[in-house]
Amino acid sequence: MSISKIQIQHVRNISSISFEPSPAINIICGENGSGKTSILEAINILGLTRSFRTKKTRHLVQNDQSSSIVFGTIDPMVQGLKQSLGVERPVEGDVRMRYEGADIDLSTLAELIPLQVINSDTFMLLEGSPAVRRQFLDWGVFHADKAFIQLWRGFRRVLKQRNTLLKCGRIDNKLRQVWDREFIGFSDQLTRLRKEYLSLLKPEFDQVVSQLLAGMKIELGFSTGWDKKRPLDEVLASSFERDLRQGFTGSGPQRADLRLKVDGHNAAERLSRGQKKLVVSALKLAQGALFQRMNSRPCIYLIDDLPSELDQVHGELFCKVLEQSSNQCFITCVDDRALKSHWDPQTDIATFRIAEGSLC
Ligand SMILES: Nc1ncnc2c1ncn2[C@@H]1O[C@H](COP(=O)(O)OP(=O)(O)O)[C@@H](O)[C@H]1O
Ligand SMILES: [Mg+2]
Repeated sequence: MSISKIQIQHVRNISSISFEPSPAINIICGENGSGKTSILEAINILGLTRSFRTKKTRHLVQNDQSSSIVFGTIDPMVQGLKQSLGVERPVEGDVRMRYEGADIDLSTLAELIPLQVINSDTFMLLEGSPAVRRQFLDWGVFHADKAFIQLWRGFRRVLKQRNTLLKCGRIDNKLRQVWDREFIGFSDQLTRLRKEYLSLLKPEFDQVVSQLLAGMKIELGFSTGWDKKRPLDEVLASSFERDLRQGFTGSGPQRADLRLKVDGHNAAERLSRGQKKLVVSALKLAQGALFQRMNSRPCIYLIDDLPSELDQVHGELFCKVLEQSSNQCFITCVDDRALKSHWDPQTDIATFRIAEGSLC
């Protein structure tokens, strides 16, 4: 996957810009507030229809404008094609996605553009709630297995239904058995896919960690979301009274989590800020490497302020991992001289300077 042309209209301070990125490394540099992150945000809209900074579209859309629009010329399967994709996000009303002249839905879009974002929010993979890590895991499972999206939707539907019944305060025993059977069926399948994906991700993760954090051993574990020593039907039965009191289902894949440990200790509690950045980046880079291996096409990486938190040595190691991958990377930094010496002269690098929302 790569984007050969990008047009951005009315995203934050960007009125209208257009540029032709390199299929490999793109550096976007400029002063604070110039619009660097807004370019990454616009590419995120192209791939996912939404910003990674705000849920409120009115903040994303340029002042006094009615919608943000991003166009891309893309080559989803790396076949040398030039296909047109456009996403319009209006302040009022629904988002519109057009691919090769036809309307498409969000899951088709997400398949077209496999995006990975590394920014200050990525620390949440270590420091945030389990939901953040489940989202990370499920990104991988979504792209690894076609069956996932239907399973996930089915599971959400059953969970919602079960919780609605629990909130009513009493459930007919027969009805409960029917829903629990469905819940367990979806849970087992979802959990199997997550475990399978993780077993493939682990060696990729170890490989990137060995490059970025030589000598450090990070264990990547998985908790299914219920007591692993007991089957889920038994857990659901024994916790039913508690679920009824709480009004929601306390055990199941909706509680799954990843556990990251260093020397047997919680990585979030032990690592320095810079080490955390490298570990969470390693998770994202491992996911991209596995995606590439499984699908024979690379991902797009949006990396906001790459040099922050990293010393020269680790900044350079990070760049080496990026240029050895075949991903298309969009990297922001205040001053591109901070990264200049890190790249191999053979690497195809395009540098874009932005000031007050315009390329210069
Ligand atoms: N809705 C908006 N309309 C116009 N300008 C905006 C809007 N939202 C943010 N801005 C401005 O856009 C600029 C770009 O911000 P950003 O992309 O975060 O800069 P950088 O990443 O280069 O530091 C900032 O100066 C900000 O004040
Ligand atoms: Mg920024």
